[in-house]
Amino acid sequence: MNKLIALSGVFLFAFILVSCNGSDNGAGKPGNKAENPEGLIVVGFSQVGAESDWRRANTRSMRETFTREKGYRLILKDAQQKQEHQIAAIRDFIQIKVNYIVLAPVTEQGWDSVLEEARDAGIPVIIMDRMIKTLDDTLFVSWVGSDFRREGGMAAVWMEKTFKDKKKLKIAHMQGSMGSSAQIGRTEGLQEGVARNAGWQIVIRDSGDFAQVKGKEVMERFLSKYRDIDVLYCENDNMAFGAIQALNEARLPYGLFGGLKIVSFDATRAGLEQTLARNISYNVECNPLHGPRVENIIQQLQLGKTPNKIVYVDETAFSADTITQEEIDARAY
Ligand code: AHR
Repeated sequence: MNKLIALSGVFLFAFILVSCNGSDNGAGKPGNKAENPEGLIVVGFSQVGAESDWRRANTRSMRETFTREKGYRLILKDAQQKQEHQIAAIRDFIQIKVNYIVLAPVTEQGWDSVLEEARDAGIPVIIMDRMIKTLDDTLFVSWVGSDFRREGGMAAVWMEKTFKDKKKLKIAHMQGSMGSSAQIGRTEGLQEGVARNAGWQIVIRDSGDFAQVKGKEVMERFLSKYRDIDVLYCENDNMAFGAIQALNEARLPYGLFGGLKIVSFDATRAGLEQTLARNISYNVECNPLHGPRVENIIQQLQLGKTPNKIVYVDETAFSADTITQEEIDARAY
């Protein structure tokens, strides 16, 4: 008798498990599938990593937006700047049947097959921050991020104005993570400036992977080969902080004290403090506060609307000559 009771208990438990996994458990549209008894909208977010202040501010913005109180369950996976980790994360999201996938792609190339898997599973994909390169625009529903080429263009125009009297301009170029939209766009902006100005010469170039420690190492290498640099075109603030450390250790002048001028990107609070101190001469904004923008896209999809395919964020730039403490105090990141 006891055996019979135990056996029926096992069957009952197995039945409950099968029903839970197979049924529509009331999660948000359009997935309605994830293990989600509270009916939250489940968002799988594949983040690049934590390589910079910008990135950490972006992660905070997503965490602060997609809260349980607002009806979301955010599953965040940090890819540590590796595309293979992002592909694995997307496959996990498909497996657990999230309602939406948000991808901040480390690089532009190589997404088609995994995003086809997401599309076949009926999970809408939103691309955030950097872009992907694909011929098939049905692989994502919407993209929100920066116009990185325009950012690079703004920096090049500032250089044209600032150095208009210089016949030769020697530029050291510190690039971000190779193959990322932020690197590609900012590099293109500079290249277009070089094409317009016969006297501009990129004397040395290397990638610091958007990170401070690598930025310092790259700058040390630059300085071991060239001391006679007019401009360091540095593709983000954290690499610029590393470069400043290297310049300080080498006791070389920059910014306010003559020597080379640093152009940077992101305009984070720490970056703007360096701009006010005139260590960075020009800082182009890159806005990381995408959480509410992505939420807006998801809310439109929830209502059955079609969000804009491409959404560019408005951005400005700050010069050491004009920046104010009030602008820094107003900075949310
Ligand atoms: O894609 C945005 C870039 O990525 C930011 O400029 C950089 O700081 C970050 O790591």
